[in-house]
Amino acid sequence: MTKKESFQQEFEQHVKEGLSKFPKFLSSKYIYDDRGDKLFQQIMALPEYYLTTAEFNIINQYKSDLRSLFENDKGFDLIELGAGDGKKTKVFLEELDHHKSNFTYIPIDISQHAIDELSSSIKKVWPKMDVQGEQGTYFKVLKQLAKYNKRPKMIMVLGSNIGNLAHAEAIDFLKQIQKIMSSEDRLFMGFDQKKDPLTIQTAYADTTGVTQEFNRNLLHRVNREMNADFDVSTFEHWEAYDPESGTAKSYLLATKKCEVNIKKLPLKVSFNKWETIHTEISQKYDDHMVEWLAKESGLQISQIFEDQKKLFKDYLFKKKI
Ligand code: AVI
Repeated sequence: MTKKESFQQEFEQHVKEGLSKFPKFLSSKYIYDDRGDKLFQQIMALPEYYLTTAEFNIINQYKSDLRSLFENDKGFDLIELGAGDGKKTKVFLEELDHHKSNFTYIPIDISQHAIDELSSSIKKVWPKMDVQGEQGTYFKVLKQLAKYNKRPKMIMVLGSNIGNLAHAEAIDFLKQIQKIMSSEDRLFMGFDQKKDPLTIQTAYADTTGVTQEFNRNLLHRVNREMNADFDVSTFEHWEAYDPESGTAKSYLLATKKCEVNIKKLPLKVSFNKWETIHTEISQKYDDHMVEWLAKESGLQISQIFEDQKKLFKDYLFKKKI
């Protein structure tokens, strides 16, 4: 079975399970096809979606400190999980190129389209840069990353992507990263911070409707790939940020009673008026929560980088010995 076929099988299984349960759910990881990637890029450009600019500013401010972590004869491997369009990483790549650092960039993303676009855009600017993109889900690709053990590596997970995982999954993810790290390796990871709840609510319940379209893309995908008949306009996006837990939850709400036929599965799904499909969590953190996650995963925080507006932090971790 090809990678694409096994991903498709997994997606179909997920839809069958998620839409048969009560309450219903669909994972945001399936939003990211070509259209989903484009919609996410539009979200990242929204002024209210402060995360991207905040982390961009952190990397820009601390790029030479980050570079100096790996100044050695052997060079290093820069592995980025969930690379997307690489906008923030390119600031660091430019710094590395400018200082003639010896490194290989290994961007990994669930979307082959994102990997292809990123690799070709890098080749245009830095034709000699060693780029070896890989497509796959974090959990699958991590198993193959153990092969990068000849020289130190920096693993980057930007954009608070970890926030899309529940705590148990986040610990599992961190443990898998920890397993493939040596004592010289470092993990550089973005964690969006708890803050004024309205700032968070506004970032996800934007008024332009792009976040609604981003969530609805799950339904467009099921229609197209599983021969289903969702009337997508019936489903509206709802965002709820809980400042106590720090969890922002996204839903698609059925605005009228309806039935959907997913012919490929086959599965008929009924929705009552105002019934929900939970699509995504975007967890917000503080230092205590990140320390706890690190402790549970056998990692140790070695440095914390924060943007000047105090919205976002990147943490540098090493393996706890
Ligand atoms: C990719 N991920 C970290 C984004 C987030 O902030 O949770 C996805 C997103 N969902 C709505 N807006 C952006």
